[in-house]
Amino acid sequence: MAIHVDETNQTFHLQTDHTSYIFQVLAHGILGQVYYGKKIHVKPQYNELLKRELKTDTPAYSLDEPRFQIGDLKQEYSDTGTGDFRRPAYQVTQSNGSRITDFKYDHYEVVQGKQRLAGLPSTFDDTDDGAETLIVHLTDELIQLDLELNYTVFPHQDVIVRSANFKNHGVEPVALNAALSAQLDLPDKQYDLIQFAGTWARERHLVRTPLRSGIQAIDSVRTTSSPQQNPFMMLARPQTTDDRGEVFGFNLVYSGNFLDQVEVDQWNVSRVLVGINPAEFEWQLAPDKAFQTPEAVMSYTPDGMNQLSQQMAAFYGEHLVDVKYRRMERPILVNNWEATYFDFNDEKLLNIAKQAKKLGIEMFVLDDGWFGHRNDDHTSLGDWFVDPKKLPNGVGAFADEVHDLGLKFGLWFEPEMISMDSELYQKHPDWLIHVPKRRATPGRNQYVLDFSRPEVVDAIYAMMSKVIQDTKLDYIKWDMNRYITEMYSTALPADRQLEMPHRYILGVYNLYERLTKAYPDVLFESCASGGGRFDLGMMYYAPQAWTSDDTDAVERMKIQFGTSYGYPQAMMGAHVSAVPNEQTGRITPLETRANVAFYGAFGYELDISKMSDQEADEVKKQVAFYKQHRSLYQFGKLYRMDSPFDGDGNVMSWLVVDEQQAHAIATRYQVLNHPNAPYERLYLRGLDPDKQYRVNDSTETYYGDELMNAGIVIGSEFDDTAAVKNSADFSSRRFMIDAVQ
Ligand code: GLA
Repeated sequence: MAIHVDETNQTFHLQTDHTSYIFQVLAHGILGQVYYGKKIHVKPQYNELLKRELKTDTPAYSLDEPRFQIGDLKQEYSDTGTGDFRRPAYQVTQSNGSRITDFKYDHYEVVQGKQRLAGLPSTFDDTDDGAETLIVHLTDELIQLDLELNYTVFPHQDVIVRSANFKNHGVEPVALNAALSAQLDLPDKQYDLIQFAGTWARERHLVRTPLRSGIQAIDSVRTTSSPQQNPFMMLARPQTTDDRGEVFGFNLVYSGNFLDQVEVDQWNVSRVLVGINPAEFEWQLAPDKAFQTPEAVMSYTPDGMNQLSQQMAAFYGEHLVDVKYRRMERPILVNNWEATYFDFNDEKLLNIAKQAKKLGIEMFVLDDGWFGHRNDDHTSLGDWFVDPKKLPNGVGAFADEVHDLGLKFGLWFEPEMISMDSELYQKHPDWLIHVPKRRATPGRNQYVLDFSRPEVVDAIYAMMSKVIQDTKLDYIKWDMNRYITEMYSTALPADRQLEMPHRYILGVYNLYERLTKAYPDVLFESCASGGGRFDLGMMYYAPQAWTSDDTDAVERMKIQFGTSYGYPQAMMGAHVSAVPNEQTGRITPLETRANVAFYGAFGYELDISKMSDQEADEVKKQVAFYKQHRSLYQFGKLYRMDSPFDGDGNVMSWLVVDEQQAHAIATRYQVLNHPNAPYERLYLRGLDPDKQYRVNDSTETYYGDELMNAGIVIGSEFDDTAAVKNSADFSSRRFMIDAVQ
């Protein structure tokens, strides 16, 4: 049993295998947060933890209760304007203009398992993994507005998922000005906020800052989760490392505007809020209508950030990613984008595909430029039919040729976009998001379709369906290459324009939902100019995502290392590309490029038909090696060891280990080579201390505890790779660790 309710004291204790989350109904039906952290015993009540002193200058609930001051409470889902001056979890404007509400606890239910949400990506428990859901019902009697707070406990991954649902049973409409998914009031401020910031080609770099008094927030108003700030955030004790220490993780199953906020108040209570960004949001809730927020994911461990990442990755694998992809090894692909850009014909592409087959690659992906008359990025988005100049026999016939080679076939789409130079725009200029009579701002020379309109989603669905059927498609790369400006829908009334950002993303989810249902064998990879929409909402439909347009091996070390804090390796699209690198001009060894890309959904993105025999031979070996170890790379437990965000960032290392702790692959990367360098060691992780292992087929064996505590001396006899012999810049060293049978 994961949910313990003490009816007398109205205490709710949510227990996972290693954590406890406790809250209680306080006076006047207000929900008070009691505790979240390492598992503690179940008791009827925890009054000691709720003790409060009388605070001068803080409003009281009423004249009779001077000591009950809600501004001094740790709450579960706080209101606005009644004495708590911290930012609230929600805000409701009523027909008289007031935003004062009075939600009181009414009753609760506990249900086994976890239902999916309608119309939104969400977590689930399809495998009877012990999930239990608590629904707490609150009501504002005056306006007959109900609020349901949902908590699902996933005991074995130490995760709690929260959301809120507003239901208007009154006679008047209300407007939601804010409706966050989760609030957590922590009792002190001794935490570092760890966020993953960046921009195009530099996504998810780790930034760690101590909490300070006041509000600190990361957010997006770009209508994508964005590369600037990822919705994944951690709060870690100052001394917490990858290996030890307390840390909380928060994420949101959502791909649009988000807010992750921490407000440290005058008594050092740290209020965490996670959900849809209240900036650029409002929702008209008519009588009999409901508003369901997306889900927030929370997890805690006292055992460091590697543990947190592992438990969250395990959770997504079990309860968010489509069940069929749970352990499905992802196909090794070759993508023609960096090989040809827009300049290709069927012959050129088939040469790449044939070479791919020879090298053991499993899928050919045709990227941008196969449709309309798209020879550059100014045209044809929305015209999802083949360009006969490039593929004269049609895309179906081309797909047949690829399939006949024994390869899977994938295609690029950018479903949400429209070019002014397109047949779609000629027919439906009003489908382009814009404000009538005002300028529409282009982004990458293109515009966005109004996905809040069902007829727009229907039209794109019809076009994509035809191509999927014609090509017997195996894979779709769903791109999204600009942020949305002039957010407005000509199909919505004036008082609903602030619903547009959310309605837009609901339209995106609707198209994903329909396509994944109708074509269950198509594997989706999400993309937004690289990793601009790398989030849990996308993960629900598309189990992999293009991590970054930056394919330089050195840049990718930071990008993939940063991403690994919040997302599993199998999600991270990672390709070997040409040198000099297209984004940085850097020349890195082919071996290093592969050693970086191996820790993800692996592929190639260069003209493999033009490689030297020697390079082709090396690629063939890489592909064979990866196939042998793919499951370990994609689904093994990942341990970060040396961080590229520490010190001068010259070294990075990490390791994947299988469930039996019998096989592990560790890789250490070095940016610049230093002559006569000091001795360094690599301290392995995750091994069985009592098992004996060989390292790179060594004759001598080593105990797991020896490899983890004494480490491997870098530069020792284990280094038999070419890179070591050359001792080069941008080198990588791989250590195969195998238990002795
Ligand atoms: C985006 C993607 C790239 C590629 C191009 C095509 O930038 O991130 O991988 O698909 O679009 O235009």
